Amino acid sequence: MRTVHSLKELRSILRAYRQQGKTIALVPTMGNLHEGHISLVRKAAESADVVVTSIFVNPMQFGATEDLDTYPRTLPEDQDMLAPAGNTLVFAPSVSEIYPEGLANQTKVVVPEVSEGHCGASRPGHFEGVATVVTMLFNMVQPDIAFFGEKDFQQLAVIRKMTRDLMMPVEIVGAPTVREDDGLAKSSRNGYLSATERTVAPAVYQVLTRIASQLEQGRSDFQILEQEARAALTEAGLRPDYFNIVNSLTLKPAVESDNDLTLLVAAFLGTTRLIDNLSITR
Ligand code: PAJ
Repeated sequence: MRTVHSLKELRSILRAYRQQGKTIALVPTMGNLHEGHISLVRKAAESADVVVTSIFVNPMQFGATEDLDTYPRTLPEDQDMLAPAGNTLVFAPSVSEIYPEGLANQTKVVVPEVSEGHCGASRPGHFEGVATVVTMLFNMVQPDIAFFGEKDFQQLAVIRKMTRDLMMPVEIVGAPTVREDDGLAKSSRNGYLSATERTVAPAVYQVLTRIASQLEQGRSDFQILEQEARAALTEAGLRPDYFNIVNSLTLKPAVESDNDLTLLVAAFLGTTRLIDNLSITR
């Protein structure tokens, strides 16, 4: 498995694979890999000849007060996990390789509607940063297929819409959330949690499953359920950012006639922001 840092090298290696008629899959990540990321790489290896995993902590998607500086950068450990998962190539560019002219003058991709609300409301500019870097990665790698986790449900919706709207010739595949045994969704940010916070964190998934079963039993008083969920998170020791019950396709507030519902949650535990979601059909 090779690691390249420059776009020039990436393009020259991929050109050769393409000339050999090989199909290419992309798994975009910010590194500090865990089983969630690796599940995407394994799926990618099943469906394409060449798997490229990108590792880039994208400054454009972080707010001024967020964790860009402290975000864990662990390339050697990441490489150790990627090789046995069937990865072919790691693309780990520097910030200046991706944004040679700086962020201020960078052309951006804006995806309306699905980017608004939820994480889009709490993290202004976040999804512009994600859509822009993913567009650039698509143009750099030119993959046939790209893999994203349902863990970041709104991000996946943003990328699906962007790809559709801009006629990007890439198939987008979503993959289920990989969890710890106690239900906590695996996340690079779980490493920020203290031992005590780690014992509280599974409450996020517990609340999701409890509210989901209420919905499955026929409750449609969405706003009351959202309030109950926020209260339960607070009771457990978290600080809810949002808990929204939405239409799974539009991400708009659920209405009585919706069959496919998704529960979206973001909550702070100390200074760590955890997100999770659960989809149901009723
Ligand atoms: P990152 O948080 O590193 O996640 C990379 C990919 O792994 C995303 O598609 C994410 O949804 C998926 N993922 C994370 N945790 C997961 C879990 N527990 N189970 C399954 N999949 C999981 O998301 C990003 O990076 C960035 O925004 C990126 C798309 C790379 C753009 O910078």
